[in-house]
Amino acid sequence: MDILQELEDRRVAARLGGGEKRIAAQHAKGKLTARERIDLLLDEGSFEEFDMFVAHRCTDFGMDQDRPAGDGVVTGWGTINGRLVYVFSQDFTVMGGSVSETHGKKICKIMDLAMQNGAPVIGMNDSGGARIQEGVASLAAYGEVFQRNVTASGVVPQISLIMGPCAGGAVYSPAMTDFIFMVKDSSYMFVTGPDVAKTVTNEIVTAEELGGATTHTRKSSVADGAFENDVEALAEIRRLFDFLPLSNREKAPVRPFFDDVNRIEESLDTLVPANPNSPYDMKELILKIADEGDFYEIQAEFAKNILTGFIRLEGSTVGVVANQPMVLAGCLDIDSSRKAARFVRFCDAFEIPVLTLVDVPGFLPGTSQEYGGVIKHGAKLLYAYAEATVPKVTVITRKAYGGAYVVMASKHLQADFNYAWPTSEIAVMGAKGATEIIHRGKSAEEIADRTKEYEARFANPFVAAEKGFIDEVIMPHSTRKRVCRAFASLRAKKAQMPWKKHDNIPL
Ligand code: HXC
Repeated sequence: MDILQELEDRRVAARLGGGEKRIAAQHAKGKLTARERIDLLLDEGSFEEFDMFVAHRCTDFGMDQDRPAGDGVVTGWGTINGRLVYVFSQDFTVMGGSVSETHGKKICKIMDLAMQNGAPVIGMNDSGGARIQEGVASLAAYGEVFQRNVTASGVVPQISLIMGPCAGGAVYSPAMTDFIFMVKDSSYMFVTGPDVAKTVTNEIVTAEELGGATTHTRKSSVADGAFENDVEALAEIRRLFDFLPLSNREKAPVRPFFDDVNRIEESLDTLVPANPNSPYDMKELILKIADEGDFYEIQAEFAKNILTGFIRLEGSTVGVVANQPMVLAGCLDIDSSRKAARFVRFCDAFEIPVLTLVDVPGFLPGTSQEYGGVIKHGAKLLYAYAEATVPKVTVITRKAYGGAYVVMASKHLQADFNYAWPTSEIAVMGAKGATEIIHRGKSAEEIADRTKEYEARFANPFVAAEKGFIDEVIMPHSTRKRVCRAFASLRAKKAQMPWKKHDNIPL
């Protein structure tokens, strides 16, 4: 009986982490504890813990006198809506969630199991970084985690939630995962903190300005989204999880759906304004195509000239990439190309079909783009589409000009279905620009006349349709039906690139 009691006592002590006082301090910062986070993330009662009694082995600096059970990270597995997931949750109440040799080993253990058993890893990061007392042993622990992040990339989805400090080299583990989400006001990420920045570059900046959620969702694009608090973050990760397959060996789950596949949306017939230079909200089209209007947007606050995220069609996950005419006329630029390229690559790695909605006037001109390497960055998106072997369906709603036409999942990049609305203008460039080049030196009047002729002849979908680059010109109101049927016909698609060690995407 005593031994049973001892087990229970040890469990109680381990569950208390750094103790009541530190838990209260964690709560006072508006943060949940490592275990509370796991409880909210996973299905009730589904969590099975590993390594609850693991303790560090450091003997320097009197550390042998302080060996808390669990060593600052709670690890294990459980389910989200019944589907397997591995988790780790750093416990800031234990030595600031700092990473020791054994702390790192605990994370590696669940990552290895996740890869072996084909289930995603969700990491909740809240840590002061390398455990200073352990020195290089701590760096080695990080290195082991980094290696597994890379090995697991494209094998199982990896999601990072930043729920406290994440600084120094520690940022590179989340950076190699598929998605990073932050909690507003209580999390930050930077390679070097405000003090170092001040010493080296004379910049005076707060931790929030340097690496808070706003910075990383709007400026750097390091993070894919930010949430108001821990509770919202965990609920939203559950929602995202439901869109994703468990591994690259399985397809994304098919959910029951209550939306008519043949739903007609008359309002789409007037979505595109009569004036080709007027904007409209492409999100409206996404919501009207999606089952039950459910769209999980990724990087909503960054490069708003392109939209990326997940919807379901007939219950199956589909990744959406769409130019947004409301911002910068929907043009492609460095940021939007990078954002969409990474999203397309995620979809392809995990067998998620891609729907592309096109209204793109071209690439953004100017020195800042060229000096910034728009050639390489634009090529990333082109490359991502061209190498993607998942089902690809494209709908052009209005402009599809020049190189951007080719990049946006055109027939030439082996899209399976290329549809166009009657309002489409598929051309080498806008009518005025084209006319000015062809009729250089002519009077303004003549250019205006010729522009009209050019518009009549080329600013439509039929020239491309005549050549078979567009499979069908479709009624806007039947877009959902057409797109659903297209993806349904592609469920057994098999396409392969030739064998190679790996590709050499322009980085
Ligand atoms: C050991 C640490 C620690 C660490 C925090 N603690 N970080 N212990 N190693 N890295 C301990 C504190 O001593 C304290 O213990 C408890 O955790 C809570 O920390 P506080 O400082 O009281 O909390 P707070 O005021 O909220 O400040 C959080 C913090 C700060 C900003 C993260 O603790 C901090 O600056 N820590 C050091 C950060 C750092 O330099 N890390 C190493 C970076 S290098 P007590 O017992 O007093 O409660 C790195 C390299 C990784 O990470 C490389 C990978 C390749």
